[in-house]
Amino acid sequence: PTLDQIFSLNDFEYVARYSMPVPAWAYYSSGGDDEITYRENHLAYQRIFFKPRILINVLDINLSTTLLGSKTSAPFYISATALAKLGHPDGEKCLTRACGKENIIQMVSTMSSYSFEDIMNTSLPDQDLWFQLYVNSNRKICEKIIKKVEKLGYKSIFVTVDNAHPGNREKDKRNKSFVISNLSLQSTSQSSNTMIDPRLCWDDIKWIQSITKLPIVIKGVGTVEDAVKAIDYNVQGIVLSNHGGRELEFARPPIEVLAELNPILKQKNLKGKFDVYIDGGVRRGTDIIKALCLGAKAVGIGRSFLYALSTYGDDGVEKAIKILKDELLMNMRLLGVTSLDQLNDRYIDIKGLESR
Ligand code: FNR
Repeated sequence: PTLDQIFSLNDFEYVARYSMPVPAWAYYSSGGDDEITYRENHLAYQRIFFKPRILINVLDINLSTTLLGSKTSAPFYISATALAKLGHPDGEKCLTRACGKENIIQMVSTMSSYSFEDIMNTSLPDQDLWFQLYVNSNRKICEKIIKKVEKLGYKSIFVTVDNAHPGNREKDKRNKSFVISNLSLQSTSQSSNTMIDPRLCWDDIKWIQSITKLPIVIKGVGTVEDAVKAIDYNVQGIVLSNHGGRELEFARPPIEVLAELNPILKQKNLKGKFDVYIDGGVRRGTDIIKALCLGAKAVGIGRSFLYALSTYGDDGVEKAIKILKDELLMNMRLLGVTSLDQLNDRYIDIKGLESR
């Protein structure tokens, strides 16, 4: 299909599934074990319903916000995903260029196919990029990476903490020989023993804080307990995430965790001091609105943008961003709100979440 026949992020997934090389599709799409967490990440959003308000002037809608000091035109960002070259020769650069045009923030993975310099050089002068850090078991290498990205101008560091061990992705395993011979994934999987340190712990967060001035966000929080602990560690925020269902199978859908965390956030009154982000299974503007109603500052999306870049390159990513913005605008109007800060839990019914 041509790009004007694409109407939703799901459409990109459908086209990707039938047009991408099998190993690349397997790597991008797979989740852990039986992919229950992968599926529930999205399905959990379907257990939340809206309480729209009527007869409100909703002509002008403002979707823009500031995240960790970075301005953005909408409350979603492209989350870090490894190896974008598997899907398109220009890999991460497609994401960077589309984000530049659309004024959206891209989080760049430690395991990007292109170098951190290349990606930064692709960005516009006033375009902010975030960096996702995997803590290397060799802390000297880790420190070098942090200093490097800070110097290059990355604006925030997201420390990923939810994959102390590679998840069991069977789709991926089935295609492994093919993947290795064609796409040289081997070096990545072999070196991942050291690229991601299973000894990583809370003290390391303090160490990272001691060597950089950049805002630090912990990516991969899965419980209210750890969310509250993160507040005590004086980080700038957290991402409620289970790595898109690719790591711990039966990790809870992040939106469920957010629903539990929301009353605590309200009580602690952390506005402006501590941001809660969320990712996993976000595919629609309504998903984004639901997360914001429950106290998220913004949401991250991984796979959909990989599918968009794999199928239509820069144009695909741009279109995916535009689709989400259109969906946000339409649904905010229908809900009776005109700016993001008006969203709160009075606009949603979460009883369905409790009865899972
Ligand atoms: C990821 N994710 C990820 N996270 C991270 O911190 N560093 C990384 O290198 C990667 N790599 C990666 C590769 C692929 C193929 C996927 C699908 C995901 C996780 C990612 O940042 C995010 O948490 C999830 O993708 C969110 O779920 P959805 O939007 O894909 O459902």
